[in-house]
Amino acid sequence: MIKLENVCKDFGDLKVLKDITLEIADHEIYGIIGQSGAGKSTLLRCINGLEEYQSGHIYVDDVEVSAKDTKQLHLLQKKMGMIFQNFNLLERLDVYDNVALPMKFWGINTHTPEAQAKIKELISLVGLQDKMHVRPKELSGGQKQRVAIARALVLDPQILLCDEATSALDPAITREILALLQEINRNLGITIIVVTHQMEVVKQICEKVAFIKEGRVLAIGKPEELFIRPTRDIKAFLHEDSELLPDNGLNIQLFFTDESSDEPVISQMARKLDIDFSISWAKLEDFRSNVYGSLVITINEEDKDKVLDYLDSVNVLWEVLD
Ligand SMILES: Nc1ncnc2c1ncn2[C@@H]1O[C@H](COP(=O)(O)OP(=O)(O)OP(=O)(O)O)[C@@H](O)[C@H]1O
Ligand SMILES: [Mg+2]
Repeated sequence: MIKLENVCKDFGDLKVLKDITLEIADHEIYGIIGQSGAGKSTLLRCINGLEEYQSGHIYVDDVEVSAKDTKQLHLLQKKMGMIFQNFNLLERLDVYDNVALPMKFWGINTHTPEAQAKIKELISLVGLQDKMHVRPKELSGGQKQRVAIARALVLDPQILLCDEATSALDPAITREILALLQEINRNLGITIIVVTHQMEVVKQICEKVAFIKEGRVLAIGKPEELFIRPTRDIKAFLHEDSELLPDNGLNIQLFFTDESSDEPVISQMARKLDIDFSISWAKLEDFRSNVYGSLVITINEEDKDKVLDYLDSVNVLWEVLD
C-alpha cells in the first residue's frame, strides 16, 4: 500500500504540493487528475523518490520514501516501474535492448537463459514479438509505449507509475494502451498509478481518483461518483455548466448508477403521474464498462411533490437545482 500523509513540496517560493493526504491500495488502479501545473508529476516523482518533499510522509509498504537512506530508497525504486508521455526510449538500442536496460542498470546479467526468457516474455506480453530487433524510430507511438511498458516491468515491480502515458496517442491507440494496463493490473497484480489530465483515461480504467488543483486534493472517490455528481470545482474542470437550463419551471437532476433499476422510469413517471415535463440536459457515460448517467428534467412547480415522491419510490437519486 502507498500512503501519503500531509505531504508538502516547495520549489523555492513556489508551493507545489500542499498537504496531500491519500492512500492507494494494493492492486488498485488509481488516477490522479488535474490541470497542467497542478503538481501531478511532482507528486509522482515524490512517490518514487526522484524528488524530495519538505514535510509530511510517504510510505510504500510501510517503508518511508526518504533520501536519507539511499540504499533503502534504491530498493523502493526497484519496486516501481515508470512510463512517460514521451516514452524515453534509447534510439540507438533495439526493442530487446531497451527492455533489457533496467536489468543492466541494476547489474543483472542479461545473458542468462532466465533473463533472456523474461525479456522475450515481456515483449510478447505487450504484443511486439515481431518487432524484437527493430529500432524505436521504426515504431508508432503506441508501439513505443508498449516497449516502455515492457521495460518498466522487467524488474518485476509491484507498482507501475504512469505519467501522461497516453497523452501523445490518438483515442483508438489510447484505448489499446489502457486495455493493456488493465490486463497487466489483473494478470500480474500490479498496482497502477495513472497521472493524467484526460478524463477518458480515468473513466476507462481507474477504480479510484484524486482530483488535484493547485497542489491540493479537491476530491477523492470513485470516478463515476465524482463525474456523475460533480462538485463545483470538478464541474469547472469538466467544463460543465448548467447555465443552459430553462428559467421557467423547476429543474431536477436525476442520477442513474449501476444500482438503479433498468425500468423506463421517465416514461413511466409521465404516464403514472399524468404530467408533462421536458428533458433539459442529459449525459450517459461509460465507466469501466458500466453505464452511468445523469438527466435534468424541467417540471411545473405544482408537480414538485408528486414527482419527488415518485422518484423516491423508484430509488432514483435526485437533486433540485437552483
Ligand atoms: N524542478 C522544478 N523546479 C521548479 N519548479 C518546478 C519544477 N518542477 C515543476 N515545477 C513547477 O511546479 C508546478 C507543478 O508542476 P508539475 O510538473 O508537477 O505539474 P503537472 O500537474 O504535472 O502539469 P502537466 O499536466 O503540465 O504535466 C509548476 O508550476 C511547475 O512550473
Ligand atoms: Mg506533468
